[in-house]
Amino acid sequence: MSEAALLEVGGLDAGYGPVGVLRGVDLSVAAGTIVALVGSNGAGKSTLLRTVSGLLRPSAGTIAFAGEAIAGARPHRIIDLGLLHVAEGRRLFRRQDVHSNLELGLYGTRLDRGEEKRRYDFVYDLFPMLAERPAALAGILSGGQQQMLAIAQALMRQPRLVMLDEPSLGLAPIVVDQVMAVLQRLRAGGTTILLVEQMVEQALDIADRAYVMQNGTMIGSGTPAEIRAGDLIRRAYLGAVSDRPVP
Ligand SMILES: Nc1ncnc2c1ncn2[C@@H]1O[C@H](COP(=O)(O)OP(=O)(O)OP(=O)(O)O)[C@@H](O)[C@H]1O
Ligand SMILES: [Mg+2]
Repeated sequence: MSEAALLEVGGLDAGYGPVGVLRGVDLSVAAGTIVALVGSNGAGKSTLLRTVSGLLRPSAGTIAFAGEAIAGARPHRIIDLGLLHVAEGRRLFRRQDVHSNLELGLYGTRLDRGEEKRRYDFVYDLFPMLAERPAALAGILSGGQQQMLAIAQALMRQPRLVMLDEPSLGLAPIVVDQVMAVLQRLRAGGTTILLVEQMVEQALDIADRAYVMQNGTMIGSGTPAEIRAGDLIRRAYLGAVSDRPVP
């Protein structure tokens, strides 16, 4: 395991029942960095996050988080170690208000009042638009506000590493910029981030390293400058285009 890696994935195979998706996937996320994970639709990005967070059991390979082997561990144990997953599609309780959704982020923790208050203060400071509307029902918030709330809910547990699956999906460009700014602030505060994004340029703008996936395998990684100078992105996305049947 490389020295400062907080998350280290090696030779990972996983999929859905007998259907294999990930094949021999390696990934290393250094503490205190933002790592971007990009690749075309169906490449296996969400499957990788689901396997790391314990929702899918790998059929081969290793996953280490903060030095602990977690491959095949139950999701709640992985959460308790400080690894949080904000899934695609903002799974909020739409009929509950902002504050209650944040409270649900603390489910199962036993914090004293003072610490709970610090957690709310932290996320309300990070997302002022949530602080303005603590009693608003999640379901009536804009897409951007819902995405902020989904991230804030995960942050209530003060994760060491947060994995975000396409936080920019469906958001206006200016809101995407706000989300990216929040991620940079989180990194500055010491949180490690694994960011799955279709908005490749925006992700490379804030990332320390990036990994490129195609067809269930990792086809390469590097610094944003290396990725921009090379042809991995073009290969990953053109590959997907050429796989489509020609009409
Ligand atoms: N629940 C599921 N059951 C069976 N196969 C699935 C399931 N979810 C995803 N797959 C398949 O696994 C492969 C990888 O999908 P995955 O969702 O991990 O890709 P992705 O890189 O996240 O794509 P996207 O950019 O569209 O979110 C695809 O072939 C997909 O059809
Ligand atoms: Mg996905």
